[in-house]
Amino acid sequence: MAQEHRLILKQIDQPGYTAELECYLRHGGYAVLRKALSLPPRTLTDGRVLTGPDQLRKEVMESGLRGRGGAGFSCGLKWSFIDHRSGKPVYLICNADESEPGTFKDRQIIYKDPHQLLEGMIISCYANHVHLAYIYIRGEFTEGARILERALAEARAAGYLGRDILGSGFDLEIHVHRGAGAYICGEETGLIESLEGKRPYPRIKPPYFPAVLGLYLCPTIVNNVETLCAVKHVVGMGGLEFAKLGTPNNTGTRIVSLSGHVRRPGYYEVEVGKVTLGELILDPAFGGGLREGRKLKAIIPGGSSAKVFKAGERFRLQRRGPGGQVTSEEVDLLDLPYDFDSLQQAGSMSGSGAIIVMDDSTDMVEALANIAEFYAHESCGQCTPCREGSLWMSKALHRLTHGGGRPQDADYLLHIARNIQGRTICAFGEACAWPVLSIVTKFRDEFEARGAADLARRAHPATGVEAPPATTQPAARAD
Ligand SMILES: Cc1cc2nc3c(=O)[nH]c(=O)nc-3n(C[C@H](O)[C@H](O)[C@H](O)COP(=O)(O)O)c2cc1C
Ligand code: SF4
Repeated sequence: MAQEHRLILKQIDQPGYTAELECYLRHGGYAVLRKALSLPPRTLTDGRVLTGPDQLRKEVMESGLRGRGGAGFSCGLKWSFIDHRSGKPVYLICNADESEPGTFKDRQIIYKDPHQLLEGMIISCYANHVHLAYIYIRGEFTEGARILERALAEARAAGYLGRDILGSGFDLEIHVHRGAGAYICGEETGLIESLEGKRPYPRIKPPYFPAVLGLYLCPTIVNNVETLCAVKHVVGMGGLEFAKLGTPNNTGTRIVSLSGHVRRPGYYEVEVGKVTLGELILDPAFGGGLREGRKLKAIIPGGSSAKVFKAGERFRLQRRGPGGQVTSEEVDLLDLPYDFDSLQQAGSMSGSGAIIVMDDSTDMVEALANIAEFYAHESCGQCTPCREGSLWMSKALHRLTHGGGRPQDADYLLHIARNIQGRTICAFGEACAWPVLSIVTKFRDEFEARGAADLARRAHPATGVEAPPATTQPAARAD
């Protein structure tokens, strides 16, 4: 039977568990840091000597840990891009912006178990020779910032931060930096610009990774809150042991934010790929099913920028067996394992781990209008396709939901979205195009019916519905 596997969330929500250092220590806190800082050098069979930090990075590589912020990129590989011989300082930034709609996991850790995040960060900093790190926290999380500041002060006073941590000779300082509430500050290069005191304009790629050129043009690691917490567990149990959790190439556990039309919305930690989308939505241990008398209509599986799935869809998945042999099987939507690779093969992504469930009461035109309005508001405006396109899409959808639609609006929306994706500086372009491309394509009939009905009403105002006033029409049109 599918069930939670709580590793990061193990203590969170337990009766009496608090965010204070004393409580964290009572539950074994900072023991993994002690172990990490005291690792003696190890000589390999080929004569090479691995220092403590080398061994920690090796563990993370062997664990197969993939980033939990959205892209699912290998954490060990990202760390390996750091050039430790450049002579430049290396920085680490914890991305606590958590602004992808539908996502509410990182804030649980920050509010309820901040020392777990700090321990993961300190270990990650030691492993990468970082002496100055930042937690970039979303502006709206005022209480979260306060909790983190207090946890940092506690850690400093107890010798887990500052000079000569636990007598190891390792120095580290961590600062909390509050954003001002812009979604684009979650994009790592926009975040870095913001941290440098500038507008959060995402940087032109290449270089593709801040690990090559990041904060103050120095090598910089940007990792998500959950990823950094997972590092603590990788080091605690060993990389290969961590890799036994989950499934091949999709190791460990991951926290899923489940919302929408389920009976038990909430956050659940599961082994990656060991639980299906259907179990997460229907099983009493998770979502507990839909509301009485309702049927499933659609699922957004990885935050609002992930492509939507339509109820009843089937997918062909390829799997690699232990001997390397590749097999292929057809899978129902609800039988899709919730992991990085399966969702990608099914044409979407697990992104930030946020599942939004929609039942048959959902108006897909309204739902998309809501999403598109968010992206039009949040575009940083640097690239023309994203700046103009996101606004045109939002205006067209506003028209469609306010009586001014046209039957050709479905094609109009697809046309704009296709001209955004792949033509922008950052992945926000895809983030705003993918919901439109997938929802309009899979629920095209709803968009066409809405447009046709609006047109008919305008042609025959005697039906009782007036033509919309000119002000509801978009100010700028692409066609
Ligand atoms: C538009 C946009 C918004 C993003 N927002 C977040 C966010 O709120 N939190 C986050 O951790 N990553 C976010 N990311 C991903 C980051 O750019 C980056 O890949 C991530 O922080 C790396 O951490 P990880 O490797 O641990 O996943 C966003 C990416 C894009 C394109
Ligand atoms: S894609 Fe959009 S958010 Fe990203 S840099 Fe361009 S305009 Fe800004």
